[in-house]
Amino acid sequence: MRPDTDISWQTADAPDASVTVSGDPTGMSHLVVPGEIDTSHGLILYLETISVSFDGFRALNDLSLAIKTNELRCIIGPNGAGKTTMMDVITGKTRPDAGRAFLGQTLDLTRLDEPAIAQAGVGRKFQKPTVFEHHSVWENLELACAGDKRWFRALWDMLTPTMRRRIEEVLTLTHLEHQAHVRAGQLSHGQKQRLEIGMLLMQQPQLLLLDEPAAGMTDEETAQLAELLNRLRGHCSMMVVEHDMAFVAALAGETGLVTVMAEGRVLAEGTLDVVQRDERVIESYLGR
Ligand SMILES: Nc1ncnc2c1ncn2[C@@H]1O[C@H](COP(=O)(O)OP(=O)(O)OP(=O)(O)O)[C@@H](O)[C@H]1O
Ligand SMILES: [Mg+2]
Repeated sequence: MRPDTDISWQTADAPDASVTVSGDPTGMSHLVVPGEIDTSHGLILYLETISVSFDGFRALNDLSLAIKTNELRCIIGPNGAGKTTMMDVITGKTRPDAGRAFLGQTLDLTRLDEPAIAQAGVGRKFQKPTVFEHHSVWENLELACAGDKRWFRALWDMLTPTMRRRIEEVLTLTHLEHQAHVRAGQLSHGQKQRLEIGMLLMQQPQLLLLDEPAAGMTDEETAQLAELLNRLRGHCSMMVVEHDMAFVAALAGETGLVTVMAEGRVLAEGTLDVVQRDERVIESYLGR
């Protein structure tokens, strides 16, 4: 179910798209229709006892985690806790040795490949911005749709009014409306990061994964990024891995849940205030 917002996420003039599940051990293919994730139980993501080993080392160790629809969940934890590996599992980059990862109620991500997972509605932001430096901000947003089959015909026919409107909405959301015709290569680091998030938004993700998005940013850029992510509440669910505690505080506020990971599993979960006072968390992470 799409949130009721001022952003028009409808794909009325876009061709239908569906994804075939690969690697289905039953030999039966399922169809994944973007935008039709079953969140009737209120969960966008459910990780169930996921384990991943690298040469005998357990990077994820029976990890279980649930994220509610439209929640913005911050994940913290020491280096090597398995945070990035967890995102690799969710996006299909790494196959777990055991466990299952559900998008919504029914879609087992461990049985989908990376393109199918992206198509199903999971967007991922890596630390280093990957924008097309020689193209304008506007063109970058256009190009972000090129890999999305739903927009293929739209792009072929040149910009449809819906797509043009979407680009304008994303420019406003990311506060890049005055940079629309600036070459991406000329943007500041913070603006590039916001553009990359904008490019992900063009694909209408239902779950956005951000791995240390504030790394390398100035305090001002970090505050602008927190503002942007707070504006995205209600547009999609988000999982944000971050070490910058001021940034985490700006996202979690007083009531948002923060998950602390250590040694491949959840060590603690609660409001930031609660986990910051947790002895185990202080010992394994904050107190170092
Ligand atoms: N492809 C790989 N091959 C071998 N070991 C790996 C691989 N990927 C991750 N690891 C190991 O798994 C553990 C978890 O790594 P991961 O990158 O998920 O941690 P993290 O919580 O993201 O840490 P950081 O905060 O430093 O980014 C680490 O010990 C890491 O060295
Ligand atoms: Mg990491």
